[in-house]
Amino acid sequence: MVYNNKNRWFDYAIFGLTVFLIFCLLFEQYIELPSVVAWLGRWHPMVLHFPIVLLLIVLFLGLTGRPIPRSLFVVAVLSALVTAISGFFLGTESDSKGELLVWHQWMGAGVALISVFWYTLDGVGLGQKFYSKALQIVLIVLIGFTGHYGGMVTHGEDFLALPLNKKRKAIPENPMIFADVVNPILDQNCVACHNPNKKKGSLLMTSWASLLKGGESGKTILVGDSGNSELIRRLLLPLDDEEHMPPDGKKPLSPDEIKILERWIALGASDTVRLDQLAPEESLVGLVKNLMEPDPLVKWADLPKVADSTLQNLDSDYVTIERVSGNSQALRIDVYLPPVYDAKAITDLKRIGSNIVELDLSGLPIGVEEMAFVASCANLEWLELDRTPITDAEVEMLRNLKQLRMLKIYNTKIGDQSAAVLKEMENLKRVYLWETGLSSAALVELKLKRPNVLIDTGIDEETKAFFVATDTIAKIEDK
Ligand code: HEC
Repeated sequence: MVYNNKNRWFDYAIFGLTVFLIFCLLFEQYIELPSVVAWLGRWHPMVLHFPIVLLLIVLFLGLTGRPIPRSLFVVAVLSALVTAISGFFLGTESDSKGELLVWHQWMGAGVALISVFWYTLDGVGLGQKFYSKALQIVLIVLIGFTGHYGGMVTHGEDFLALPLNKKRKAIPENPMIFADVVNPILDQNCVACHNPNKKKGSLLMTSWASLLKGGESGKTILVGDSGNSELIRRLLLPLDDEEHMPPDGKKPLSPDEIKILERWIALGASDTVRLDQLAPEESLVGLVKNLMEPDPLVKWADLPKVADSTLQNLDSDYVTIERVSGNSQALRIDVYLPPVYDAKAITDLKRIGSNIVELDLSGLPIGVEEMAFVASCANLEWLELDRTPITDAEVEMLRNLKQLRMLKIYNTKIGDQSAAVLKEMENLKRVYLWETGLSSAALVELKLKRPNVLIDTGIDEETKAFFVATDTIAKIEDK
């Protein structure tokens, strides 16, 4: 094929892009793209049908021995290169590249490089040789496979929107601390850069063994010594420190997630230990239990529907009703003391009782009638009864509130019998208890029985003495 030798800027473009693509493939590990460039990669799925069609046309012409218009050939090869490169950009942005994506990427690069090779052969007049034809057949097969793998990699139509927000997997009963708790944290936040394809700092975080093996600068985890573990040090660095992990303004781990990793390392970084093998007073137990809380939106999905008009009817100057979040059916209710108090203000809420998850009756002169209503609100999680005249008898009525997580009963007339009820509330996380009739002995016992419940007794000398006492007893029990 003869063409104008003087006007071959497109050959330089093809050459340049080919070199760039090869560079990307070889040095992928070391490349950190600015996010704008990575964003360009998102157009990859839209760009890609174009070169497929063009290449197939050119291949058809080539295999049937027809002349291939040079401009068409150039555009087909150039667009194949651009597609492979944009795909590479997209790949660097994606979290933990799966095997499918790696295959897709290499095959896509193969399509581009083989087209360049064929284009070159054709350019020097070898386009009709048998090996050139063989190359064209290989190309067709490769295009087919690349497309197939690409389809499997694609995540869905909202792909061009913001990065995917991966859902947390539910944690099973009595979870394995590493597999079910620690590993998902690393998976979500670290593996994107510490996997076999992208081994930043030579650190692999895809398995327990590779994690313990460490990276470039040696051990990342010192078993039993979280304070001196490189991994923890990096998590705790200031956000703008170059060595902070994850780097570059990526979402940092939450304080709880960091504490989980810390305690896991401090306790020996085991890959076999389960939740029930930890001492109940170990702080990791509470942290893991918090993670095991069901997602509120899922948990509340089954609440009965309650119309806005119903809420407006019940709402008044002294009763405020609001949905806990957006348009959820879960309600928070605050009742304030009206000039003339009538129990009806509270008992009238019975129709929406099962929707109430948070209720504040603090400072009201409530009695048995109101408490019967409270006890019927089976989904209550948050209850404020402080500064009310309730006694042990009323607390006793709360026994069946299985969802209760927070209870304020300070400044009431309750006594030691209430401690027995609190002990049984399995979901209780926090209780406010100062200025009650509870004896310190009952408090100490409650604290021992429920080490993961935060018992707030106010800050005074008595409280301090109480904490000293619980610590001493805990130590004696340990022996
Ligand atoms: C955006 C990519 C990226 C993410 C996400 C990321 N890292 Fe890194 N990580 C790097 C790079 C790049 C290096 C090498 C440069 C350095 O040492 O700072 C590195 C190095 C490290 C090292 C030092 C390894 C050694 O031996 O030198 C540790 C430890 C580490 N990362 C932990 C983490 C942890 C834990 C997470 C998750 C919370 C995480 N990384 C997430 C990019 C990342």
